[in-house]
Amino acid sequence: MDEIDTGLEGVVVGATKISHVEGVVGRLSYRGHDIATLCQRPFPQVIWLLLFGELPSAQQEQQLAHFLLAHAALGDSDRQLLGAVPEGTHPMLMLQGLVPLLSLEQRESLELPTRSEDAVHGLIIAARLPALIASYFRREQGLDWPLHSHSIEPHRLFLKTLHDRNPSAEQVAVLDTTQILQMEHSYNAGTFAGRVTLSTQAPVQASISASLGTLFGKLHGGADQAALETAMRVAEPEQAADYVRKCLREGGRIMGMGHREYRTVDPRASLLKPLARQLCKDPDSARLLATLEAIEAACVEQLEKPGRSIRANVEFYKGAVFHALGIPPRYFTALFAMARVYGYIAHALEFRPQSRLIRPRARYTGRQPKDHQAA
Ligand code: COA
Repeated sequence: MDEIDTGLEGVVVGATKISHVEGVVGRLSYRGHDIATLCQRPFPQVIWLLLFGELPSAQQEQQLAHFLLAHAALGDSDRQLLGAVPEGTHPMLMLQGLVPLLSLEQRESLELPTRSEDAVHGLIIAARLPALIASYFRREQGLDWPLHSHSIEPHRLFLKTLHDRNPSAEQVAVLDTTQILQMEHSYNAGTFAGRVTLSTQAPVQASISASLGTLFGKLHGGADQAALETAMRVAEPEQAADYVRKCLREGGRIMGMGHREYRTVDPRASLLKPLARQLCKDPDSARLLATLEAIEAACVEQLEKPGRSIRANVEFYKGAVFHALGIPPRYFTALFAMARVYGYIAHALEFRPQSRLIRPRARYTGRQPKDHQAA
C-alpha cells in the first residue's frame, strides 16, 4: 500500500509567482526581490509589488496609501461587532470571526491593474485591521476606542492607538520592517487554507478568515507568542540549557525553532535578530534577548543530528522586537495577521482566475457496511 504523507511535506500542489522560499540556502524573495532589500522600501510599495507583480509608480503608491488611510477607521457597524465579542476572546479568534463581517463599503476609488473585486475587498479589510486590533486592545484595557478618521500611516497609527502617545520614527520604521518580513511565505498552512476556500468560489473575506484561523495555531503563527512567553518563563540565560533539556526529554517542542522549508537559519530571523539587539537596551529587554539567544544556542546544540538542522525561525526574535515596541505577547499573532493579510490577497488574485476545486482523497480504513460484507 502506498504511504500516506499526512503533512504533505515536499508535495507540490500548485505554482506561484508571488514569493520564492529557498529553504536549503535560506533565501526569501517576493516577486524576484530579496526581502533584505524590500525592507528598505516604503510599506505601500511592497504591498503593490506583492499584489500586482511590479513596483508601483509614484502616483500608484500615493493612491494606494491614500486608499488605505481612507478605509482605516472602523465604521459604526464594525464598532458594534467589536463591542459584541465575548470578553476574554483571543485577538486571533476575534479577527477570524469579524473579518468576514466588516463593512466593505468603498469610501474612495482606486485605480488598480486588475478589475478584481477580491483586490478592492481584500484591501479594505487589510486597511481596517490595524484599527480593529488596536481598538480591541483598548477595549480589553477598559479604554475608549478612537472613532475619528485617520490621516497618518497605518503603523504609526497602530502604535499611537495602542499606547496613547506618538511613536518615534525608529519605532515606526522597525514595525514597517517586521511587517514586510511577515507579509508572504508561499504555500504556508494559512495561505493554503485560503486557497482551498477560494477554490470553492467563496468570497475573499471568507478565504482570509480561513487563513487567519489556520495562522493562529502554535505550529504556525502562534509560535511568536509562545516563544516569547517561554523566554519570559525561563527568565535568565543561565537557565536556558536546563529548560531546553527538560522540554526535549518530555517530548516538547521549543517554540520559534525549526521550519518545514528552511534547512538553515530562516532569513527573516537573521534580519530580526539585529533589530532586536538595536531595540533591547533597557536591562529587562536585554535580559530577555540574552535568554532567547541562550535558548537558541542550547537548542542548536541539543537538537543537532546528522542530516537534521533545527534553527531559529521568523517567530523567535520577532517577540523581542515586538516586546521592545510595547506590544503585548497576546497580540503578536494578530500583528502577524495584519501583515500576512497582504500575502493572502496576492494569492487570491493569482489563484482566482485559474481556480479549480481542491478536493483530495482519503483512504478509507473504517468498517465496511454490513450489506457489502454479505454480498
Ligand atoms: N523543538 C524540538 N524538536 C523539534 C523542533 C522544535 N522546535 N522542530 C523540529 N523538531 C524535531 C522533531 O521532534 C523531529 O524529531 P525526530 O526527527 O527525532 O522525530 C524533527 O525535528 C523533525 O520535526 P517535524 O515536526 O517532522 O518537522 P516539520 O518540518 O514538520 O516541523 C515545525 C516544522 C515548524 C512544525 C517544527 O519545527 C516545530 O514544531 N517548531 C516549533 C513551532 C514553531 O516555531 N512554529 C513556527 C514555524 S514558522
